[in-house]
Amino acid sequence: MKSFNNTLLNWYDSENEFLPWRATSDPYHIWVSEIMLQQTQVKTVIPFYNAWIDKFATLNDVANASDEEIFKSWEGLGYYNRALNFRSACIDIMNNYDGQIPNLKEKLLLLKGIGDYTSSAIASIAFNQPTPAIDGNVKRIMSRLLLLPDFKKKELNKIKDFLLKNIDEHRPGDFNQSLMDLGRKICKPRNPKCTDCPISIFCLSFKNKQTHIYPIKNKQTKNKPHYNIGVGVVWHNDKILITKRKKNQLLGGLWEFPGGKIESHESIEHCIKREIKEELDIQIKVNNFIIKVKHQYSHFKITLYAYHCQYISGDVKCIEVDDWAWIEPHAISNYPFPRANHYIFPEILNNDGAIC
Ligand code: ADE
Repeated sequence: MKSFNNTLLNWYDSENEFLPWRATSDPYHIWVSEIMLQQTQVKTVIPFYNAWIDKFATLNDVANASDEEIFKSWEGLGYYNRALNFRSACIDIMNNYDGQIPNLKEKLLLLKGIGDYTSSAIASIAFNQPTPAIDGNVKRIMSRLLLLPDFKKKELNKIKDFLLKNIDEHRPGDFNQSLMDLGRKICKPRNPKCTDCPISIFCLSFKNKQTHIYPIKNKQTKNKPHYNIGVGVVWHNDKILITKRKKNQLLGGLWEFPGGKIESHESIEHCIKREIKEELDIQIKVNNFIIKVKHQYSHFKITLYAYHCQYISGDVKCIEVDDWAWIEPHAISNYPFPRANHYIFPEILNNDGAIC
């Protein structure tokens, strides 16, 4: 019988999928891709990765970039701390590692934003170190392959042992990436395509006709908290008011339309007026409804209600924001905003304040 790793690598070679970070062995490029891929799907990452490499050709460019430049290039990828941690790590490497990215997992782990999985991915792909990269996809494959019901310590140790024994010593990066691809294309969470699977001959749950059961689900899925948010698009002399979230908040450093959480027994209009007074110390009038947006972030979900508003009086002050600006509506794309706000943009550009 053929070996597990040969079978997997033959499949990987036959797929021959073009992904831009696979056309290079530059560790900086591979690192960028791995950070972006931490929480984001391959097809979404591709254009962001290409644009990032165009804008920041070297690690030193990232180390010297402003918050604004970093956020703008990351806008739409979400989980913005990834980008800030990445810049911190680039600064660390420029200052303490002579600009050279460490080639060992143990050293990579010391850098901000690099955990167990990412350190193994970079060490194996960029530096040929035989260290298995184990993420959720790989755990799922291993659960089915080895008939492991869940991922307690004992099961995780079995997975590590199996992968350490089987990782291809000549092509450890390709071995890891073949598992990532298998998890994405074949051994999917729902409806795994077992008849197309190159390693089904090794798979214990396939033998038992139980792939659909593994891993055995933990029914207690964590519920994300939900918030109702009222926001105002405040118009004054054909300009709109935007504010910058405080650095220490979730989504800190990004721009947004001012507003906040709707309290119980409070109307949306009242909430918007109250929040804008509390955050900026100005008076506004709330006019017509623009749009309702439902959106999920990493740790919470929101329903956002946006209204056109008219500035009435007061000097804008930074009370609960880090910065503010009156901008022309068409300039909005120059500022990094959290995803949910983007749904409001077309409505503003279409209306251009006419309703107010
Ligand atoms: N997910 C995480 N890293 C990846 C990679 N290098 N290729 C494809 N998917 C991935």
